[in-house]
Amino acid sequence: QKLDIELAAIEKGGYDHFMIKEIFEQPQTIFDSLRGRLDAKKGTLTMGGIREYADMLKNANRIIIVACGTSWHAGLVAEYMIEELCRIPVEVEYASEFRYRNPVVGPGDVIIAVSQSGETADTLVAIESAKEKGAIILGICNVVGSSIARASHAGAYTHAGPEIGVASTKAFTAQLAVLCLVGLMVAKEKGAITPQRFQHLLDELENVPEKVATTLELNEQVKNIAAKYKDARDFLYLGRGYNFPVALEGALKLKEISYIHAEGYPAAEMKHGPIALVDENLPVVFVATKDSYYEKVVSNIQEIKARKGKVIAVITEGDTIIPGMADDIIVVPEADELVAPMISVIPLQLLAYHIGVLKGLDVDKPRNLAKSVTVE
Ligand code: G6P
Repeated sequence: QKLDIELAAIEKGGYDHFMIKEIFEQPQTIFDSLRGRLDAKKGTLTMGGIREYADMLKNANRIIIVACGTSWHAGLVAEYMIEELCRIPVEVEYASEFRYRNPVVGPGDVIIAVSQSGETADTLVAIESAKEKGAIILGICNVVGSSIARASHAGAYTHAGPEIGVASTKAFTAQLAVLCLVGLMVAKEKGAITPQRFQHLLDELENVPEKVATTLELNEQVKNIAAKYKDARDFLYLGRGYNFPVALEGALKLKEISYIHAEGYPAAEMKHGPIALVDENLPVVFVATKDSYYEKVVSNIQEIKARKGKVIAVITEGDTIIPGMADDIIVVPEADELVAPMISVIPLQLLAYHIGVLKGLDVDKPRNLAKSVTVE
């Protein structure tokens, strides 16, 4: 047993838990998911695994992304990216719903299955039935040779390395990186993006690993914020645009790891319900980085403050407005809104981790959860 304990300690590479080790691996894993594909200096992007299907992708009637859990959140970000960059309609579906509701799908549709494990039963069955109906299937998986990767016509691996923590962290940011590459590739093939914007986004993508590394330096600060709010009964996470799925992911991480009830919402939609929950005991996490939605988010923060909610805001460096409004701020490097989720999600992963640890919970193996759900 002593040997087991020592082995586990070695595998964690000096970290207390796999989850925090994997959170800190993200500068490297995002780099790995871009490596060999993106060359910003040369202005090139190559996606070997899906090149053959580039024509089908650019001419797709629509793209349907199917996934579960955290991977579904990556799909939501991709919906915003692909629609904006490629002007192709995108739908994002929970695999479990898609597979049972006799969806309208056929030739001309492209299904992108997103899955860390590549073994999630609902996602696998969803793509198998769409394939029978004539759709093209692309798999974005982390585990090489997994069932979903094998059942797909083509795909791209995320190259995040083995993810041991049950709650997904580094696989999520790697999925975002790869989905962004796919969007950029299709946009370029289709001529839907200007050369300037294409080059700008290649540069922005290339800079993400370094900005994630800078964001990770906030670990101690996030830990202090965690200590302040760890006893809250509920949390609300709000964001708009590209940061809306990040809010959902932040809430999911907190639920999974700390067993605190948390809801993620599009910030404007809070007026249609969650605002009724706001009082001085409710921490509200805003993902409020500088983007095209920024002004609107500032008004949403005012609405929460007017009701005495506690605001924790993830903001961009140089922001002079939100620091005067929020109770706690977490300042992250500036980035184009398309790639910003890979950066803004980092403090939310850290917050969930530290709250879970402070509560004495098993953050690597939360109760009732499984790393890969191979039953429906
Ligand atoms: C489980 C895991 C999650 C994961 C989800 C989808 O719920 O605990 O972390 O996001 O399955 O898994 P997949 O392997 O398909 O990404």
